[in-house]
Amino acid sequence: MNTGIIGAGRIGRVHIRNITSSVPQINITALADPMLNEEITAFARQHHIPKVTTDAREIFDDPDIDAVIICSSTNTHAEYIIEAAKAGKHIFCEKPVDYDLARVREAIDAAENAGVILQIGFCRRFDHNHRAVYDMVRSGSVGDVNLIRISSRDPEPPSIDYVKVSGGIFYDMMIHDFDMARFLAGCEVTEVQAWGSVLVDPAIGEAGDVDTAAVMLRFENGAIGMIDNSRQAVYGYDQRVEVFGSRGMAFNDNDVLHTARILTADSTCSAPMHRVMFDRYTQAFISEMQSFARALETGTGPEVNGEDGLPPVLMAAAATLSMKEHRPVKISEIIETANVNPVHTA
Ligand SMILES: NC(=O)c1ccc[n+]([C@@H]2O[C@H](COP(=O)([O-])OP(=O)(O)OC[C@H]3O[C@@H](n4cnc5c(N)ncnc54)[C@H](O)[C@@H]3O)[C@@H](O)[C@H]2O)c1
Repeated sequence: MNTGIIGAGRIGRVHIRNITSSVPQINITALADPMLNEEITAFARQHHIPKVTTDAREIFDDPDIDAVIICSSTNTHAEYIIEAAKAGKHIFCEKPVDYDLARVREAIDAAENAGVILQIGFCRRFDHNHRAVYDMVRSGSVGDVNLIRISSRDPEPPSIDYVKVSGGIFYDMMIHDFDMARFLAGCEVTEVQAWGSVLVDPAIGEAGDVDTAAVMLRFENGAIGMIDNSRQAVYGYDQRVEVFGSRGMAFNDNDVLHTARILTADSTCSAPMHRVMFDRYTQAFISEMQSFARALETGTGPEVNGEDGLPPVLMAAAATLSMKEHRPVKISEIIETANVNPVHTA
C-alpha cells in the first residue's frame, strides 16, 4: 500500500521508523510538513521516502497513494480526514480527532460515507500489559465488571507552550484513559465527575490548565471507573490499569528497564520504570501500525475505528465542564448541548 505521511514531528517520526523497520506492507512514498527543513528532508532520505513536500494536498491529489497517516497537530486532523476521505484514501489519524465535537462527527462521517478505513491512534489498546488485562476481562475470568481503575502519570510536565495549545489535560492526556476505560469495560460511559488541581507547576495554572486530575465515571451497565492523571511522577512514566469484578480482579504493573533486583540488609531495589512514552509503548506503536496494515490488506474494519474517536472526546468535554462547574455531568447533556449524533447516520 502506497502511503503518505502528514506531519514529521515526534509521533510522525516514530511511525515512519516503525513502518520502515516492521511493517513491510506499507510503502511510504511521500511526506508532507509545512515546516519542511534540511533535517526532515535528511530523515526522509534516510528512510527511503522518495517525495517530500510542504503541502499535504500533493498527497491527497496523488492517484498512486492509497492511504494517509495523519501525524500533524490536532487542529489539522478533522480537515485532513475529510480531505483524505474525499480523495478515497484510507486513513490512520492520531488522537484526538478534534477538540470540537461537531468537527469530530463530521470527520468520522466523511470517512464512513466514502467507505474508506479510518483508524484512530489509541495506541495503548495495543500495549501488551493493557491487552493482557483486556483479554482476561473478555474471557470472563473476572466475572461481571464492577470497578475500573486507571493511573496515568507523566514523568515531567510538557513545555508551557505545549500546554497552551494542548486543549487541556482531559483532551490531551486523559483522552487515552477515557478510551482505555470504555475499551476495558466493553460499554459506554454515561456520567463523569472531574476534579483538577495545580500542584506541580503554577505556570500550568496560569496557562489555564491543571496538572493533577481525578475523574469518576459511571458506565451504562452501572460499573464505576476512576482515573487519575499527574503531569509529574518523579519515579517515571506510570501506566497501570485494574479491573475488579464479581469473580476476581485483573491488574497490571509497569514495565521496568530490566528485572534484576538487589537485596541488602535494609532494602530491596529494582530497576526504574521507563521515563519516556515512546520507550514504554515502543511495541504498542509498532503493533497498532501492523494492525492498520492488516486492515488495509484485508479491507476489514480496523481494531480501533472511526466511531471510537467520538466517545473519548465526549468524556473530555464532560470532564472539562464538570471540573469547571463542580458537578457531575451526564454524557447526554454534552450530546444535547453540542447537538451531535453519538453514532453515524448515513
Ligand atoms: N498516540 C500517542 O500516544 C501520541 C503521542 C504523541 C502525539 N500524539 C498526537 O500526534 C499529533 C502530533 O503530535 P507530536 O507530538 O508529533 O507534535 P509535534 O509538534 O512534534 O509534530 C507536529 C508536526 O506537524 C506538523 N504540522 C503542523 N501543521 C501541519 C499541517 N497543516 N500539515 C502538515 N503538518 C503540519 C508540524 O510542522 C510538526 O512537524 C497530536 O495530535 C498529538 O496529540 C499522539
